[in-house]
Amino acid sequence: MGVIERYSELLPVTEKTPRITLGEGNTPLVRVGNVSDMLGIDLWAKLEGCNPSGSFKDRGMVMAVAKALEDGAKALVCASTGNTSASAAAYAAAAGVPCYVLLPAGKVALGKLAQALMYGAAVIAVRGNFDKALEMARAAAEREGFAIVNSVNPYRLWGQRSGAWEICEVLGKAPDWHAIPVGNAGNISAYWAGYKQYKELGKINTLPRMMGFQAAGAAPLVTGKPCPNPETVATAIRIGNPVSAHLAKEAVKESGGEFNSVTDDEILAAQHILSSNGGIFAEPASCAPLAGLIKLKKEGRLPQGITAVMILTGNGLKDPDTAMSQVGRPVEIGDSLEELLEVMKG
Ligand code: F0G
Repeated sequence: MGVIERYSELLPVTEKTPRITLGEGNTPLVRVGNVSDMLGIDLWAKLEGCNPSGSFKDRGMVMAVAKALEDGAKALVCASTGNTSASAAAYAAAAGVPCYVLLPAGKVALGKLAQALMYGAAVIAVRGNFDKALEMARAAAEREGFAIVNSVNPYRLWGQRSGAWEICEVLGKAPDWHAIPVGNAGNISAYWAGYKQYKELGKINTLPRMMGFQAAGAAPLVTGKPCPNPETVATAIRIGNPVSAHLAKEAVKESGGEFNSVTDDEILAAQHILSSNGGIFAEPASCAPLAGLIKLKKEGRLPQGITAVMILTGNGLKDPDTAMSQVGRPVEIGDSLEELLEVMKG
């Protein structure tokens, strides 16, 4: 059962909303034992890379596309650092509607680009950053009457609330801390709305602190001003002027959380720890929260014994180039057993 059917009572769906699904949602929430011990907390990872297109975007995209179909949209359009475009292209393909995706030229991870092209979207590389591409996508959508499926589309944030509901269902409560990467700032806002909705319904008694982590080279919510030339290895969150900044600020303020930034080196170190100590391969942007928790631990600002959930927003397989730049190459041998045994000795 996908997000729409599973949560139809909590979402703004009608009888006319098509129950489309690619099997999104219901992703694993796993305890990361080794890293919990290292940090002195109870750390859980929400594996959003297990969604059909490999990122959390599918939760909101299924809603945005269903609503666009309900409204008779002729085409979908989005700008993207990669994951939104992969997700939009997938649901558009399944629904049989045309999809235009605008990407910052040369700044999208290989796997994501391959996805958008394979799903058959019209892929347009804009010479400019994501913020510029989004501006153009919104203008084109308005001019042509196409449905914009970025997180400025409120249905995206509605669908993404489902991540919070699932976490509460598995833990039987809200976590103490919710650690999440922040780019265009939609997801942190959606999670906060999801937790609040569950509290209002009496399904949980407490709310988490919302801890938002940005890359140091693209940290407008930490510095308090737009970043005209965002730059980071975590290309998914290479965003200088987040459209949902106001909602994200509200979430952090209301929850007593904070925004913090982590360097590219800290992000890559966290990605390596998570994969080699935790067996979980998440893309660089997804590792910003772990990098942040490690940083706070070093600063003595990580309360010990808390339950923290980090959202691993995208699958590590989406960005093979960054991963390969961090690791060695395989040892190559001939077909001799002796040679193999020699190599195995190290
Ligand atoms: N993590 C990943 C893997 C992402 O792809 C994104 C956003 C984020 C975190 C940040 O989420 O924007 O809701 O604050 N990716 C968008 C895209 C911008 O186009 O795929 P956010």
